[in-house]
Amino acid sequence: MALVNEYFLRLSDNYLFSDIAKKVNAFKLTHPNERVISLGIGDVTQPLCPAVIKAMHEAVDEMATSAQFHGYGPEHGYDFLREAIVKNDYHSRGISISPNEVFINDGAKSDLGNIGDIVRWDNSVAITDPVYPVYIDSNAMIGRAGTCVDGKWSNIIYMPTTEENGFEPQLPEQRVDMIYLCYPNNPTGTVLTKTQLKKWVDYALKNDSLIFFDSAYEAYIHDEDIPHSIYEIRGAKRCAIEFRSYSKTAGFTGIRCGYTVIPKEVKASTLDGQKVELNHLWERRQATKFNGASYISQRGAAAIYSPEGKEQIKQTIDYYMGNAKLMRERLQQLGVIVYGGTNAPYLWVKTPRGLSSWKYFEELLYTSALVCTPGAGFGPSGEGYVRLTAFGKREDCLEAMERLKR
Ligand code: MLT
Repeated sequence: MALVNEYFLRLSDNYLFSDIAKKVNAFKLTHPNERVISLGIGDVTQPLCPAVIKAMHEAVDEMATSAQFHGYGPEHGYDFLREAIVKNDYHSRGISISPNEVFINDGAKSDLGNIGDIVRWDNSVAITDPVYPVYIDSNAMIGRAGTCVDGKWSNIIYMPTTEENGFEPQLPEQRVDMIYLCYPNNPTGTVLTKTQLKKWVDYALKNDSLIFFDSAYEAYIHDEDIPHSIYEIRGAKRCAIEFRSYSKTAGFTGIRCGYTVIPKEVKASTLDGQKVELNHLWERRQATKFNGASYISQRGAAAIYSPEGKEQIKQTIDYYMGNAKLMRERLQQLGVIVYGGTNAPYLWVKTPRGLSSWKYFEELLYTSALVCTPGAGFGPSGEGYVRLTAFGKREDCLEAMERLKR
């Protein structure tokens, strides 16, 4: 009989958001008359903007003619999108990135989960805690995380980001091979300034570490001093891989498109000390395992860089940030301690009466038909918090706050 990858057996039975979905479905079955409001998974609710819709319609029309039909595209993405990214997301900020350092994908989650393919299975890994569960689960699947004891993986170095340290993770005391950072942060909604992020780049350069920088929420940054890209920090092109997504920027959670930047300078070492370009390894990996994001979604993504596209996605982002502001203010009026929500679409809310995250999740669901995400689901330091998303409809956010008040 074939042998199973036993590392999978070390994972919890369900992925966090699948677990929550099961619990919510059970509630809906037993409470058919309740209208459930979800402020749980960060899924967008506003439609695609007109510029994206138009570009996608045109792309579908092209596909309907043999002259303009597109079959397999380049697995690393079409040049029209890679060039638009480089020009608008990087050159506009004075960052020199070339189109061949950009890999288009079907959303950041896939690449964040798969990037571990190109580095050794026994590298050491540091993560901020609480954290987006994909980083840990994907490392656990190939044995890099070790075993999970009392909610902590034996080979993972946890860097708590908590109220006590102002949500700024401390640099690891030992040398680490791989570091995952997500800013603006999921789940806490907090940010790092350029000065704070520079410490991480300096650490990585000094220790020959790799930083995996997830900036899926950069479009929600409002304050000037908050970096949108890790490459705003000098030297980061030698040590960091950056992940971006159109899911939250342009409402692509159902369309699926994002990209990963791997500068040519980013290298890792063989056991005998030979330095290898990760850009080339990732290209090789993608050519084997990925056939590219669809032409239609890439045309849609490119449209957000047009003048009208930029303006339209900004309106939607402002709408969500309006939700974040009103929820934050109303929660504070109720005396609730809340973080995030000013440069990120997530609110990190302290549970009342010292309740555990899951207990408060159940309480909100069963007394108010509200869905949140329990902080403990993001890691040990998330205990005592829940996360609320600002991606809901305005009327639902208002109604949710009314229910909480009651
Ligand atoms: C979240 O709720 O944390 C995100 O929506 C999940 C994701 O982007 O995969």
